[in-house]
Amino acid sequence: MISIAIDGPAGAGKSTVAKAISKKLGIVYLDTGAMYRTVALKALKEKVDSLDRKKLSEIVKNIDMEIRFIDNQQHMFLDNEDVTEKIRTPEISIGASNVGTIPEVRLKMAELQREFAEKHNVVMEGRDIGTFVLPNATIKIFLTASLEKRAERRYKELVAKGNTEITLEDVKRDIECRDRNDSSRSLAPLTKAPDAIEIDTTDLTVDQVVDKIIDNL
Ligand code: DC
Repeated sequence: MISIAIDGPAGAGKSTVAKAISKKLGIVYLDTGAMYRTVALKALKEKVDSLDRKKLSEIVKNIDMEIRFIDNQQHMFLDNEDVTEKIRTPEISIGASNVGTIPEVRLKMAELQREFAEKHNVVMEGRDIGTFVLPNATIKIFLTASLEKRAERRYKELVAKGNTEITLEDVKRDIECRDRNDSSRSLAPLTKAPDAIEIDTTDLTVDQVVDKIIDNL
């Protein structure tokens, strides 16, 4: 099985690059952030604080979460409802970062992700794929970019989706907060694996990044 692990902070270009690689190589793309986002949405629905370890441990034990691929696109289902769009809000971004600090949540997500990689050739994108989920991945990539560039990319995405209330400063603050949260948690923090190839995408086009990765395969 082939597994391509792509990690890095929010806005570094992981999803765009992972999607392009999956298309080029004809292998599945799994966005693991969407799984944490779905757990965060469940907590929100149940009115549970996203940092409540005891309650979140119970939630992940019993969660009815399903990943389905429809026309090659990953859809997240929660309690049989397609929540793919619902999980893309700033509130859920912070919630996902919070639930991701809870070891019981991480262990459950990692287990599901490993099972997935056993069955599929995959380009898997997240924060801990190369370090924790798939330590034996075929190739590990760590994407970075300046905070300004990452905030700008995420801001444009939100505006394109019709979010008219958010400002660039809000997005920058949220990203900084998530960076801190994701890098400082005790289990599987966001960090570059020693054997990962680091690519700074600040001044690169998507094609340039994709070519660099393919060249290293
Ligand atoms: O990739 P994303 O921005 O959709 O991820 C949302 C949050 O989920 C991120 O800030 C931290 C958490 N996450 C994680 O802890 N581990 C992963 N492998 C992916 C995401």
